[in-house]
Amino acid sequence: MSTTIKRIGVLTSGGDAPGMNAAVRAVVRSAAFYKVECVAIYQGYQGLIDNKVKVMNARGVNNIINKGGTVLKSARCLEFRTPDGRKKAFETIQKHNIDGLVVIGGDGTFTGAMIFQSEFNVPVMGIPGTIDNDIFGTTHTIGYDTALNTVIEAIDKIRDTAISHNRLFFVEVMGRDAGHIALNAGIGAGAEEVLIPEEDMGLDRLLESLKRSEKSGKSSSIVVIAEGDKSGKNVFEIAEYVEKNLPYYDVRVSVLGHMQRGGSPSCFDRVLASRMGVFAVESLLNGKSNMMVGLKNEEMILSPFEKAIKGKSEINKDLIRVSDILTI
Ligand code: F6P
Repeated sequence: MSTTIKRIGVLTSGGDAPGMNAAVRAVVRSAAFYKVECVAIYQGYQGLIDNKVKVMNARGVNNIINKGGTVLKSARCLEFRTPDGRKKAFETIQKHNIDGLVVIGGDGTFTGAMIFQSEFNVPVMGIPGTIDNDIFGTTHTIGYDTALNTVIEAIDKIRDTAISHNRLFFVEVMGRDAGHIALNAGIGAGAEEVLIPEEDMGLDRLLESLKRSEKSGKSSSIVVIAEGDKSGKNVFEIAEYVEKNLPYYDVRVSVLGHMQRGGSPSCFDRVLASRMGVFAVESLLNGKSNMMVGLKNEEMILSPFEKAIKGKSEINKDLIRVSDILTI
């Protein structure tokens, strides 16, 4: 590998996601493999601004592959959005002789990286780490699979109560503006209906569906609602609306919240993070920059940050069809 890069910095930024540690481990170890030094930057871009940098060798990432969250800590850094903040960050880069950066995070992280690269010409590679799976250029982001498994486990438990009390549960899941978690977990957990931002089904259709389901003999039901749903009502208002219109239902709401981001990463996320970490370092050493690694058809690919940020990670329409058929 012909490279001028002698020292790589790695950081995690934005919302934490299970598997970020596996990605950090892969970056640190593949740097060591290619005899390049690696430094860890703590607390995302804030750590770059505040000079929170520590040399990391292959043994420094022992026993983290199975851990949720991020040992490097994370932040949504407002200061990095300012030219002054980015100037301070560049001073840290110079101080520690960092020749290239690997940033692990979501679209906010990549937007920051792209601006930083254009201002200071520091080579940067991105690794998509977010439970939302809302990044163009990869079929899976790190953390998404684990979050799905966490959500279906939670809904399975809610189902026990729903059945025991003949109740209708509205379960709100994360995903920001994307419905990937809601749609997939909805199918996986056998939800009656799934409300996602990409497809505004309208509340009347929801009422019709619930009426039909009651008539067909169902005594309990689960409706999964993506937090970014565009019906104009939040999960509590939707529950209230349904209760008012269909008074025979005993309605409850459950907002799963941040428990969806925690926990030990699934095997899928660990393998994905390991592959992405290795590929990000190799790409950087091969002179690539301003790009994000991704998974497509089982292969590692690169996409320019600009595309990753601006492109839309489309919902799989066939899943909507499957979900509709199965709620008969
Ligand atoms: O992007 C991950 C995510 O968990 C989203 O699903 C959610 O909308 C958001 O982060 C919550 O952000 P915070 O942890 O800053 O409240």
